[in-house]
Amino acid sequence: MSAPAPRTDPMTVLAVGDVVGADAADWLAARLPRLREEHHLDWVVVNAENCAVTGPSPMDGFGMTVEVVDTLLAAGVDAITGGNHSWDGPDVDKVLAYPQVVRPANLDENRGQGLTTLRRGARTLTVLNLLSPTAALPGMNAPPPRPLWPAWTSLAASEDLPGAVLIDLHGESPWEKAAFATALDGTITALVGTHTHDPTLRGHVLPGGTGYVTELGMTGPLGFTGGGFDPVHFAARLRGEDIAALPPYQLANGPLSLGAVVISVDATGATKSITREY
Ligand SMILES: [Fe+2]
Ligand SMILES: [Fe+2]
Repeated sequence: MSAPAPRTDPMTVLAVGDVVGADAADWLAARLPRLREEHHLDWVVVNAENCAVTGPSPMDGFGMTVEVVDTLLAAGVDAITGGNHSWDGPDVDKVLAYPQVVRPANLDENRGQGLTTLRRGARTLTVLNLLSPTAALPGMNAPPPRPLWPAWTSLAASEDLPGAVLIDLHGESPWEKAAFATALDGTITALVGTHTHDPTLRGHVLPGGTGYVTELGMTGPLGFTGGGFDPVHFAARLRGEDIAALPPYQLANGPLSLGAVVISVDATGATKSITREY
């Protein structure tokens, strides 16, 4: 049997979960040079959907700003993914216009792009962002996402996905993420889950060579329930109370925490290892 054809030169990728707040973006930016050196990183992919506070409640106004995106890119971040908050804040048009910013692909949106391909020499990484309907709450600014499987199959049939393929699946359900990763095992390089903010402990290499982690975890301040902010608005919503009557939400003020994994990829585009980085 002949060996699989090379898709890329081997590479190492740092995938970082939801950056919460501008201070966390500054902190991550300051840590990146050392992380790059320590892990010989070729690419840094960051979900930054919550990197700026621009509204009164985490249901709205918890997206990105040009200023924070510029901070991350200046620090060497190669691609910035999003999620249900990619449509929050005053800078949506400008943020989505960045070639490095990737918004969920499985919805109707003419602005921006749902995937990007990074190339340096013979190292090629395609980064794709998907939004599960489980993470699209009613009343949010995000357009309604299409169901994952039909959206993926039509996208895979119509798009060129060169090199190693990394999917950021922004979703609420651990089992949905696991099922999607299993369905794609052997056809993509890695699937990383984002959105729920609390990191899962282990990464896995599936039998077909796809790397998988259920939740990267947020990158931001610890405290409260670990999501980076006080979830009092969520509790009020659960009780059926009017969240507009509450004071603006506040970020947590505990020590900053990194939610990330390092993914080592071979020349066939398979994941060799996926390890957590704190
Ligand atoms: Fe988030
Ligand atoms: Fe989210």
